[in-house]
Amino acid sequence: MNKERISFALIGGKRGEHIEDLILEIEKSGNLATHINIKDLILISSKEGFDVLYQGKSILEFDVFILRSAFRSLKNEMCIVANFLLKNNKTVIDQVIGENYIAGKMYESYLLSQSGVATPLTMQIFADENKIKISEKINFPIIAKPIVGSKGRGVQKIENQTELNNFVILEEKDKFIFQEYISISYDIRVFVVGNKVLGAMKRFVREDDFRSNASLGSKVEKMELTDSLINLALKSVQAYGYEVAGVDIVNEGGKEYVLEVNNAPQWSAFKRVTGINPADEIIKYAINKYNNK
Ligand SMILES: Nc1ncnc2c1ncn2[C@@H]1O[C@H](COP(=O)(O)OP(=O)(O)O)[C@@H](O)[C@H]1O
Ligand SMILES: [Mg+2]
Repeated sequence: MNKERISFALIGGKRGEHIEDLILEIEKSGNLATHINIKDLILISSKEGFDVLYQGKSILEFDVFILRSAFRSLKNEMCIVANFLLKNNKTVIDQVIGENYIAGKMYESYLLSQSGVATPLTMQIFADENKIKISEKINFPIIAKPIVGSKGRGVQKIENQTELNNFVILEEKDKFIFQEYISISYDIRVFVVGNKVLGAMKRFVREDDFRSNASLGSKVEKMELTDSLINLALKSVQAYGYEVAGVDIVNEGGKEYVLEVNNAPQWSAFKRVTGINPADEIIKYAINKYNNK
């Protein structure tokens, strides 16, 4: 499908650096860009059918949709929107969000383990009386994470049985997974667009924290890719079906584990230290996908 000007919709949160970078690349390519804050969308189901409205018009007026957020509490709704777009033959990145997608870190651990990718031992329980099963299988400190999270939010260390006993496992908003702690001084963020591994950086664990998220201000440094990182990153991204992703890898005593795979990854730190601009790669990938439809 070739059209003179492709109309891109960037669906995300507030308009920030990442959306700006994408808009710049879309405009450079001679195409049209619109940033849509997900909160401005209206979903409507009626006897005329289903539609998603933005500023009073159907979003089906756009050609290519780049989903640029983790969408947190609106993740399920975003799956509906993405599915609707695919049913209407639109180009969606990441397409998998509209296909077969269950939000959350337990599902992600499941996908990685099904693909034979090594991950830290991870457990989820639903009843307090099963807490003992966690400490039978995982040594302290144990990492607890909200199943839907990003930027390190809510990720915490549980040091002993008393802390575990006091931990509320089913909060109103957040369910948690429990994971073995891997002792590291840095983790490795590998950036992938399509089948291409763009580069990697080390993210050092902060001195006053155990987390290494760049958005928490951790120190970052460019890292050379190795065959093993490339293979592990591609295998992990394929397990999730993502098209644009940041894979977090840790190395403990020579053994590599995948901590998580992030969709809609941020890139300010990555761009600064590697000199690689993911926005450029993402837009090239999107145009190619649209033209080959
Ligand atoms: N099992 C673990 N062992 C050691 N550090 C971990 C572990 N899990 C997470 N971390 C640290 O916490 C950070 C945030 O955890 P992560 O699972 O990536 O959640 P988020 O989606 O919030 O980024 C990671 O980047 C890493 O530095
Ligand atoms: Mg992370």
